[in-house]
Amino acid sequence: MRQKLVAGNWKMNGSKASIKELLNGIKQGIGDVQSAEVAVCPPFVYLGEVEAQLSGTPIVWGAQNLSTEEKGAFTGEVAASMINDFGCKYVIVGHSERRSLYGEDDALVAKKYSVARAAGLKPILCIGETLEEREKGVTNDVVARQIAAVIELEGVAALADGVIAYEPVWAIGTGKTASPEQAQEVHKFIREQIAAQDASVAQKVQILYGGSMNAANAAELLAQEDIDGGLIGGASLKAEDFLTICRAAG
Ligand code: PGA
Repeated sequence: MRQKLVAGNWKMNGSKASIKELLNGIKQGIGDVQSAEVAVCPPFVYLGEVEAQLSGTPIVWGAQNLSTEEKGAFTGEVAASMINDFGCKYVIVGHSERRSLYGEDDALVAKKYSVARAAGLKPILCIGETLEEREKGVTNDVVARQIAAVIELEGVAALADGVIAYEPVWAIGTGKTASPEQAQEVHKFIREQIAAQDASVAQKVQILYGGSMNAANAAELLAQEDIDGGLIGGASLKAEDFLTICRAAG
């Protein structure tokens, strides 16, 4: 049985004060979460505060992005070693907002996956199709291509060191969630694609769903056989909603 993971992607939201309140709320309710792992991914500048508040709790944390460079003259970038320095377990790579707004392509995302893995971080590899791609019927081709980029660079075994998040772009931040059946279908396809190369990696790898998952729809999505958790944006900014999703994960 794969452990479920619920990760909050705070994106570019929060302040010192709001984050303190949010973390307090999550810490207070975490005792009711039985078996799922719970993670939060704040903006870089709040990692120190998150580390201070969550050390010694069962909640883990991660970053939302990383540089492919080790160090040096890369103004505005953050290295894997720095993310490690703040005790992060996870780092999100290839979020659709990074792909669409900051021009990150499959090759760069695969490189980020590789750099994160080499640093001992667990990359959360985001993949997913746009509405146009879904309507054209190429969803499977898109997610297969996005995963293949990592496999080509790192080998299929590398997927066991990370987590995959299937996030249909049309569902992110739109309030329009994939139906449990739609999500399960793609999750199953992803697992089969990996299984074609390595069955044991396919069995092991956690595949999260992301895209308007919330307190009301989480249980149904998380009940699907190949959905191993969630990557939560908007609903991760409210402690009670986030905890409801975490509890639904087990
Ligand atoms: P959302 O974001 O839950 O607000 O749709 C999910 C994500 O982008 O990871």
